[in-house]
Amino acid sequence: MKDFEFYNPVRIVFGKKQLEKISDLIPLKKRIMLLYGGGSIKKNGVYEGIMKALEDCDIIEFKGIEPNPSYETCMKAVDLIKKENVEFLLAAGGGSVIDATKFIAAAALYDDGDPWDILAKGSKIKASLPLADILTLPATGTEMNKNSVISRQSTNEKLAFSSPHSFPQFSVLLPDAAATLPTEQVANGVVDAFVHVIEQYLTYPVNAPLQDRIAEAILTTLIEEGPKAYADPSDYDSMANLMWSATMALNGIIKAGVPEDWSVHDIGHELTALHNIDHARTLAIVLPGVWRVLREEKKEKLLQYGERIWGITQGTEEERVDRAIDVTVKFFESLGIKTKFSDYGIPAETIDRIVERFKKRGCLFGMGDRKLVTLPVVRKILEDRL
Ligand code: NZQ
Ligand code: ZN
Repeated sequence: MKDFEFYNPVRIVFGKKQLEKISDLIPLKKRIMLLYGGGSIKKNGVYEGIMKALEDCDIIEFKGIEPNPSYETCMKAVDLIKKENVEFLLAAGGGSVIDATKFIAAAALYDDGDPWDILAKGSKIKASLPLADILTLPATGTEMNKNSVISRQSTNEKLAFSSPHSFPQFSVLLPDAAATLPTEQVANGVVDAFVHVIEQYLTYPVNAPLQDRIAEAILTTLIEEGPKAYADPSDYDSMANLMWSATMALNGIIKAGVPEDWSVHDIGHELTALHNIDHARTLAIVLPGVWRVLREEKKEKLLQYGERIWGITQGTEEERVDRAIDVTVKFFESLGIKTKFSDYGIPAETIDRIVERFKKRGCLFGMGDRKLVTLPVVRKILEDRL
């Protein structure tokens, strides 16, 4: 096992009727900004519940945060925060609203120039406004981590940052509010959480059996419960299991002491930036390519994954690896998520554009300290997906 530090201060409040508790969780005398997206919280009772719980508070609303939240929208919120002297941010919705709120909280106190540098240059955040969230969509894990992904519309870029100042103070997880999700969003959530686990698990063995087994438990639960929540988002128990699985997939527990490989996400973000494809769908496109191209480097874990998750024990090693990849693609497809460029009308020229972008950024990534995903490897991965 590798050396590690683990720190996660996020208070999780999970289940039914939890909104009533937020008035005790928020420092009441503060000026609060409520941030949300296109209005889903007005259709599932969450907005009403928040307003009722916080009726004695001074609330300033900021609405219209879009999926794949933009820097441009975030900076409008920053202006309003400064004008209104907001002291506490409360996000309500999915990962996009929460990620935007993390960036806004940091940008509002950033005094080293353009806050875009936090994303583009990795500039350090020294402080952030306190924030919390109400989660209505199981997928990203942002509710219990310090990461945020923001897009810049003017340049079609999508970049991430991570800061200990960006942990939410608390996150209220509401499986019943997720009942109003369109089924495509439920499918996205299952696949996003699934690939989060894979990026931290399917690398190479370092004798970390506990981390492996926790990761495998999350994958198995997603495979069992995800399709039920997809079939019926109002099935509370399945949605609750999906929601907690998605949180556990990216809260730092399973990455402690093991190598990570975020190449599926790194490449996937480019497909969203260039073609506006839902985050999870880009992952479903890229993952089979990464596995095919790096099958030797990942073989031991691919075999373990095939056996423990899908019961694949028969055949040669090569056949078992192929089956593990095929069965994963079938699982994504069973949720209505396609895995090829052609399924989304992505032209082959996109490969050149993505390779060129990584070249400009000097990128070389993947597989923990083994930087295997070079530019030619990125090209091969994407060519596999045509
Ligand atoms: O905007 P509203 O009206 O709220 O509608 C949203 C949005 O249109 C809707 N929605 C959310 N909850 C709903 C609902 N509709 C009906 N009923 C509900 N209960 O769903 C749509 C998509 O929401 P969004 O927040 O964009 O989805 P998701 O949670 O999948 O977040 C995706 C974003 O998170 C980033 C992605 O890159 C993407 O930008 N990620 C963040 C990560 C992190 N911070 O750790 C990790 C992930 O890998 C990911 O990159
Ligand atoms: Zn993701």
